[in-house]
Amino acid sequence: DIPVIVDCDPGHDDALALLLAAGDPRLRLLGVTTVAGNQTLDKTTRNALRILALAGVTGVPVAAGCDRPLVGDLVVADDIHGSSGLDGPDLDGPTAEIEPVHAVELMRRLIAESGESVTLIATGPLTNVALLLRRHPEVVPGVRRIVFMGGSTERGNTTPYGEFNVVTDPEAADIVLRSGLEITMIGLNVTHQALATDEVIAEFRGMGTRVGAVCAELMTFFASTYRGVFGFDHPPAHDPIAVAAVADPSILRTVAVPVAVELTGKHTRGATVVDLHDRSGRTPNAEVAVGLDVDAFWRMLMAAVARGQP
Ligand code: BDR
Ligand code: CA
Repeated sequence: DIPVIVDCDPGHDDALALLLAAGDPRLRLLGVTTVAGNQTLDKTTRNALRILALAGVTGVPVAAGCDRPLVGDLVVADDIHGSSGLDGPDLDGPTAEIEPVHAVELMRRLIAESGESVTLIATGPLTNVALLLRRHPEVVPGVRRIVFMGGSTERGNTTPYGEFNVVTDPEAADIVLRSGLEITMIGLNVTHQALATDEVIAEFRGMGTRVGAVCAELMTFFASTYRGVFGFDHPPAHDPIAVAAVADPSILRTVAVPVAVELTGKHTRGATVVDLHDRSGRTPNAEVAVGLDVDAFWRMLMAAVARGQP
């Protein structure tokens, strides 16, 4: 199995990512770290604990990380995720405590102690991950690769050309993309292929489990805000795709290309500049997702959620 750490900001789609990471037999979830993004850090941390409790996951350490981006102020996505960050279902409170250390320290410890190559899956702004790389270069050789949901080869969702996770902390994304590590970027160009349709929501509900019902309610709320903000009929299931791509890389088609983060653009700060046609002559620094086996993704997610709980 593949040892992974999930760094997240739950978040409706982060919740699905956590359920997949906890439920897929090919993955071993070493720990969960949280970051400010979709909501403030106290809320994203509480939400991560609530989702793990819902899924009956015990013994997986959770630590809270950065409460703001490296530069500038936090701007949350309450228009999409509501005031709790997980509006919709009526979730119980957490059953576990958070670790009394910073997320970056928990990541350091888990990587150092694992003795294996650990995959980092990031589904929020890359603040914690960037800080880990800068603060603890000694554990970087223990990182197998970083797979993150963020950016786009096309347009954005937070600014015309910027995707939320990268726009929220462009400097962090820049540090990660220039780290020299193996990076897989899963952007809006593929996550918008996996839509939580009415059939998907019905399948969650049809599981007849509490976890399935919560997933249905999460996606129903997500659909309502995506309809209101973007006019979409169905919301994209962004974050679990990053987890799915680790469990089974064959569901994703990627190209090795240069990716830069726009840090100074007047209108485009936080945009990912993906050189798909080798116009810059720069060395590729990321595997960028360009295709997704949508059916295989949903099958994998449904199986993990169904496995989750009575
Ligand atoms: C990303 O932004 C967040 O709102 C979602 O959780 C996802 O990680 C999509 O742009
Ligand atoms: Ca997220």
